[in-house]
Amino acid sequence: MLSNPAGDEKRTSLHGHWSSRMAFILAVTGSAVGLGNIWKFPYIAGQNGGGAFVLVYLVCVIVIGMPVMMSEILIGRRGRRNPIATMELLGKEEGSSGNWRLVGSMGVLAGILILSYYSVIAGWTLAYVLKSATGVFAGASAEAVGAEFGGFVGNWKAIGFYHTLFMALAIFVVARGVERGLEQAVRFMVPALLVLMLVLLGYSISSGYFGQGVAFMFTPDFDKLTWDSVLAALGQAFFTLSIGMGAIMAYGAYLPEETSITGASAAVVTADTAIAILAGLAIFPLVFANGLDPADGPGLVFQTLPLAFGQMPGGVFFSTIFFVLLAFAAWTSAIGLMEPAVAWIVEHYNRTRAQATVFIGVLIWAIGFGTVLSFNVLADTTFLAGTVFDNIDYLTSNIMLPLGGLLITIFAGWVMCRNSTSDELGSAGSLYKAWRLLARFVAPIGILFVLINAVT
Ligand code: TRP
Repeated sequence: MLSNPAGDEKRTSLHGHWSSRMAFILAVTGSAVGLGNIWKFPYIAGQNGGGAFVLVYLVCVIVIGMPVMMSEILIGRRGRRNPIATMELLGKEEGSSGNWRLVGSMGVLAGILILSYYSVIAGWTLAYVLKSATGVFAGASAEAVGAEFGGFVGNWKAIGFYHTLFMALAIFVVARGVERGLEQAVRFMVPALLVLMLVLLGYSISSGYFGQGVAFMFTPDFDKLTWDSVLAALGQAFFTLSIGMGAIMAYGAYLPEETSITGASAAVVTADTAIAILAGLAIFPLVFANGLDPADGPGLVFQTLPLAFGQMPGGVFFSTIFFVLLAFAAWTSAIGLMEPAVAWIVEHYNRTRAQATVFIGVLIWAIGFGTVLSFNVLADTTFLAGTVFDNIDYLTSNIMLPLGGLLITIFAGWVMCRNSTSDELGSAGSLYKAWRLLARFVAPIGILFVLINAVT
């Protein structure tokens, strides 16, 4: 192995490297932008009363999400292994303990659980591509669109089929490796998604209810804000940025030395937040224009957007393209959700990437039937947070991701020595100081405070 001129042996990753700084940013953006922005953000905001929730969410993204993301990338790049092995290695190297690997293990598990339901919803987007293309929504009324959705998710065989199809697509790409194909897909998809969101926004503005939508999203009514909604906002910040579970750590492991971690994080956070806010701005006016309920839940996008497309000129075309893009966005996220588990199996059990992917993929597919059945056969079987789907979602977004983020910032801020982190973040200037302040104090204390208040 060649040692680099600085004298300190830098590790390299087993799985190859990103071809450029842009490739890394595109891959992380591809993982961040997904159903979280367009499907989840609007319905969670709607269920939690709008304005105040959105404000807390934005604060969480900036003061907690940003430092956690930077911490994950720097840990990943320093370890250059899968998240479990990286945490173990750095834990020992920094004079603490190899048990830090448990943070990685929790992340691997979170990724598996999240993808088990993510894939079901992504399957809905595949089905909606077909429904859109065949004109099911052309000129349809709110009732008809609602009935179409209800009939579809009420049929477990139908949504089980699309869940299976989506998992097959995800397994296919992950089995083939990190780089191939992915960069091109994201390079095209994110801008195209932005353009279509703008088309929808235009329609929303013309609906006459734009003001009401904006007011709902941005007028904070703190009386409606409970600790539960604050936790939901924190969980959503983690979910939408793909942080707290080692996915970004796994991607960081393939990052070239010279790339600026701060710059890359800022770019991803900005793009991701912009798309979520645009989705909200497009959807809420339509909710009010059609007399729908913002607190309607997971069906919200699937009931509002087809309605809007059904009424605009060229709607069949736009609607088809929109759901294709959304399926793509979900696909690039699914890849990130599997990456920690797959990288771990490849390294730990010495398997090929294809073997590891098929094993993990089939496991996730099977667990996914808990969610498939949550919308029909088991819809009335509720416990703790609700259906099986509600429980998996609550456990992962509201508990596992924040807890993972808490431990990651404690590790980067307190366990790693100053030299190690400043070496990765590349400066001792004010940006570094700001990160360290956020990672040592603001993020961990903030997360802990919200978790304690919401859970007790
Ligand atoms: N951020 C993704 C979205 O908004 C979902 C997600 C959560 C994710 N954690 C992840 C994607 C880890 C990739 C890797 O849709």
